[in-house]
Amino acid sequence: MASNEDKPAVKEEENVGSWKDAIFNPRTGEFCGRTAKSWGLILLFYLVFYAFLAGMFVLTIWVMLMTLDDYVPRYRDRVPHPGLVIRPKELDLLFNKSQPLQFNRHINTLESFLQDYNDTEQARNEVCVSGSYFDQDGEVGEQRKVCQFKRSSLSLCSGLSDSTFGYAEGKPCILLKMNRIIGLKPRGEPYVNCTAKREKPITIQYFPNEGRFDKMYFPYYGNKLHERYVQPLVAVKLLLRKEDYNTELTIECRIEGSNLRNNDDRDKFLGRVTFRVTVKE
Ligand SMILES: *[C@@H]1O[C@H](CO)[C@@H](O)[C@H](O)[C@H]1NC(C)=O
Ligand SMILES: *[C@@H]1O[C@H](CO)[C@@H](O)[C@H](O)[C@H]1NC(C)=O
Ligand SMILES: *[C@@H]1O[C@H](CO)[C@@H](O)[C@H](O)[C@H]1NC(C)=O
Repeated sequence: MASNEDKPAVKEEENVGSWKDAIFNPRTGEFCGRTAKSWGLILLFYLVFYAFLAGMFVLTIWVMLMTLDDYVPRYRDRVPHPGLVIRPKELDLLFNKSQPLQFNRHINTLESFLQDYNDTEQARNEVCVSGSYFDQDGEVGEQRKVCQFKRSSLSLCSGLSDSTFGYAEGKPCILLKMNRIIGLKPRGEPYVNCTAKREKPITIQYFPNEGRFDKMYFPYYGNKLHERYVQPLVAVKLLLRKEDYNTELTIECRIEGSNLRNNDDRDKFLGRVTFRVTVKE
């Protein structure tokens, strides 16, 4: 190729020489600017580095499998553990007990929620044996029977004797239920225990008796097979006193007395729920 006028041929040769040297320089023995020793070190570095990464990966998997092995025998199956939820849904319940406009919304929520537990409706369901699971084999696709749960069993929190669910007297009811989980059969005698997060405890009434989730409401067979299923409820009535008004109370409720988890670090609604209540007067 013809060279440019202002670029002498000598310069061109030099350029070619240094370009070749950049790949392999026979004088210094460098390949791509590095000596064999330097290349060796780099290779060694990456070898060790990737071996370390692979080791970390294997270690992590191994540790994870170890933990899994620890858990499996404790859980009868891979049935997940239920969350605990409240009605009214508000995790920050705030109202003036003398102003119905501030709590009517809540008692309407409770009232419509309890429609499914209407005594007349529930009377059509089975009277089950308290304290034992209601296992049903059933034919393929056959509807499973439902254990009755009458709202009247919630007594002072049923909305029947007191249509304001205690909100007007400043002793509000909160309903708790577990999330539905197909096939769940809680061991022991699950019950709800609520505590106020402060020095002085508050008095709490539980309905039904002792805030128990009776075993007869388990297992649940799923939406398709168990259409009319109603979850058992526990109502708590906070018996607030004069000194409890106009201050924020933090209440934590947990499912206790069973194998259901209630202290998962990652999920603060698993088997427990925390909410705040402020009743003004
Ligand atoms: C329950 O349902 C019946 C009709 O099925 C109705 O007459 C009654 O008022 C309901 N009770 C409540 C408390 O909602
Ligand atoms: C409820 O929980 C509190 C605090 O953890 C505990 O002191 C109390 O004994 C529990 N009550 C019942 C009935 O388990
Ligand atoms: C609550 O409502 C009553 C009646 O309307 C009122 O006198 C009182 O000041 C209210 N309390 C608070 C803390 O707002």
